[in-house]
Amino acid sequence: KAPHVNGKHFDKSKKYTSFGDGSDDERPRKTPLVLNGSLTNGKAHGPNGQRHKKPRPSRFNGQNGLVNGQQDGSSKTSLKPSSIALQAQRKSLPIAKGRQALIDEINKHDITVLLGETGSGKTTQIPQYLLESGLAGTGIIAVTQPRKVAATSLAERVAAERGTLVGKLVGYSVRFDERVGPDTRIKYMTDGMIVRELLSDRLLSNYSVVIVDEAHERTLRTDLLMASLKRIQRERNSPTDLKGKSSANRLNPLKIIIMSATLDAEKFSTFYENAKIIYIKGRQHPVKIFHTAQGQQDYGDSAMRTFFQIHTDRPPGDVLIFLPEDIESLQKSIQVFAKRLPQDKMEVLICPMYAAQAPIENAKVFHPTPPRTRKCILATNIAETSLTIPGVKYVIDTGKCKEKRYLTRDTGGGFDALLTTDITKSSAMQRAGRAGREGTGFCFRLYTEEAYSKMELSTQPEILRCSLVSSLLQLKCLGEDLDELELMDKPDDIAIISAYKSLWLLDAINKNKEITPLGHEMAHFPLEPAYARAVIASKEYGCTSEVLDIISILSSSSKLFLDISEQREAAAEARLKFKHSSGDHLTILNVVRAYHDISQSEAKAARKDWCRKHFLNERTLLEANNIREQLRRVCSRLHIDYNTTCRDDEQPIIRSIAHGLVQNSAFIQPDGSYKQSMAQSLVKIHPSSSLCDKKVEAIIYDELIYTNQIYARGVSSIHKSFFATLGTLIQRQA
Ligand code: CDP
Ligand code: MG
Repeated sequence: KAPHVNGKHFDKSKKYTSFGDGSDDERPRKTPLVLNGSLTNGKAHGPNGQRHKKPRPSRFNGQNGLVNGQQDGSSKTSLKPSSIALQAQRKSLPIAKGRQALIDEINKHDITVLLGETGSGKTTQIPQYLLESGLAGTGIIAVTQPRKVAATSLAERVAAERGTLVGKLVGYSVRFDERVGPDTRIKYMTDGMIVRELLSDRLLSNYSVVIVDEAHERTLRTDLLMASLKRIQRERNSPTDLKGKSSANRLNPLKIIIMSATLDAEKFSTFYENAKIIYIKGRQHPVKIFHTAQGQQDYGDSAMRTFFQIHTDRPPGDVLIFLPEDIESLQKSIQVFAKRLPQDKMEVLICPMYAAQAPIENAKVFHPTPPRTRKCILATNIAETSLTIPGVKYVIDTGKCKEKRYLTRDTGGGFDALLTTDITKSSAMQRAGRAGREGTGFCFRLYTEEAYSKMELSTQPEILRCSLVSSLLQLKCLGEDLDELELMDKPDDIAIISAYKSLWLLDAINKNKEITPLGHEMAHFPLEPAYARAVIASKEYGCTSEVLDIISILSSSSKLFLDISEQREAAAEARLKFKHSSGDHLTILNVVRAYHDISQSEAKAARKDWCRKHFLNERTLLEANNIREQLRRVCSRLHIDYNTTCRDDEQPIIRSIAHGLVQNSAFIQPDGSYKQSMAQSLVKIHPSSSLCDKKVEAIIYDELIYTNQIYARGVSSIHKSFFATLGTLIQRQA
């Protein structure tokens, strides 16, 4: 069935809304004091017309004074302009005109809050300005990002701008992947990685500047980092020597820069004792926004139809589609229909952009679009504010995103689940804004105007909705506590108590809430505490090799089993030979083993083919190989022999994993359903599980899925007697 490209998809009779600074601008006029490309200091004036209190303008004299008495650091770092074009692009960014003023302001203040429109050049330029001006001294400049893909691709970009390769002057550090070297001065890293670094260096002494980017996203790690930075700055910048060290080896002061793409600037400023707010204007053109006349059932199908509608009706310009997931299936559908287009039409070039994809693939979105071609970019939230993709004229906004949520926060157990939810107004604004970077743009919202009006204003901080277990463990290692930490938003007591309970069940803390040696060991692993517990337990059971195989898959960013709706039966049949009678964890192990054998004997193409035939995601398997390598290194440091194997004895493996998943356990009821051991809910085994039509006395599971029922996914069968050996809490239930 071909997409009906001329269907009445949009209610064009309805007056569209638009924003931007063009002729049909509906938002309040900017104050004339905000010059394009220059800075105003004073109160924030949001990109979307939401006006803050009166702007407090100040003038910059543009004086070129030496900063901190140091010389221009660029000579020391041997700037080697890669290409004239890149340098010209740098100079033409909106932020470039305000460069000196910005350096002066940052020099004057220990903490600066930067509010800037997306695409103005904050993330790529400010670290370079700091380096060039010598403001960063001899320390490293950290730039934190909530997302892995953003950290790696920004590092690539900035390295290219400096004419070097990633890992030299510019590096990155994300979970399970790091490219930094002795010369690295600008380090793009995930917020999770810098919080992890606190464990070994509680004053972040290697860093002279920490830039907290995308602070508006308010991820759990960003919030923890912002709280820790307060303490660090107190200790490092205080004039009296707290540490009692001689002033000679006292640490350099730390500069903090908080960057946000949306409002919230006031809140960050207030949190840091009224820190200076600087507003950086971008280059926003008007964007015409269309809403659908009716709500859409299937956002994928709807996005595809809208894409072809644009492709056939509208002038050249790239299309950016925001999707929560299913990027690969939409990619396939668009490819199929694009082939059927008449010869005289423009070509379609599809560029997906998401975390699990190889960096080289992700980099393709930034390549110039070839002639007679329309790029169609399929992206997750990543393109909302973290990355600006040039050439986009049309945005298709499905109105959905993936959001981390911990559904049973009060009862504990389980991990954060990624759920598809409606976006917020603030996200919708940002998404639309991506169409107006280079000229008048168009945004097609696959939801009604009414739906838009009902959206929440902005996303709730993660700390109020996600599991606190892993963070609490890290804080405990630092000798800190969640309830004592100076946070921007405090989680409720129930959530904190539940996190304590989880850690206690994992033997990471004792009854007095003190961290145990085991807890310290667990914190060394870049894993969910539950999985770290499983790896440590495998040492006792003599099956570390197997447990690492399984945990590596479970910690990958994509799923192992591809789920294509029309081919579900074929997939089940093809994978039958991996199915293990005790459940999904050992089924995964079978796949890993089979893949390992194939990799030994077959070439790349045959491996790929094998994966395709079995409906397996090879990306997951390759990523898992990489993760396993990293976990092996941690094991070595902790003197855990990662080669120990129990061969074909399955019980030790299940038991090791069960030590981590104690809270995710359930016992069979007379009606065949399972009752959670830690909560009251009845759960069913997910239809995708290899245990789905079996009845066993007890199960452990990776996660719960909430649909019309509660399903346990990633399930293994376990003997009830296992729980008798554990803490009293579970024993009573069993
Ligand atoms: O952080 P902010 O949103 O202010 O902007 P940025 O990430 O520093 O990006 C500045 C400009 O660099 C954007 O307009 C992008 O078009 C460009 N850029 C690029 O072309 N390729 C990249 N990989 C990253 C940025
Ligand atoms: Mg940015």
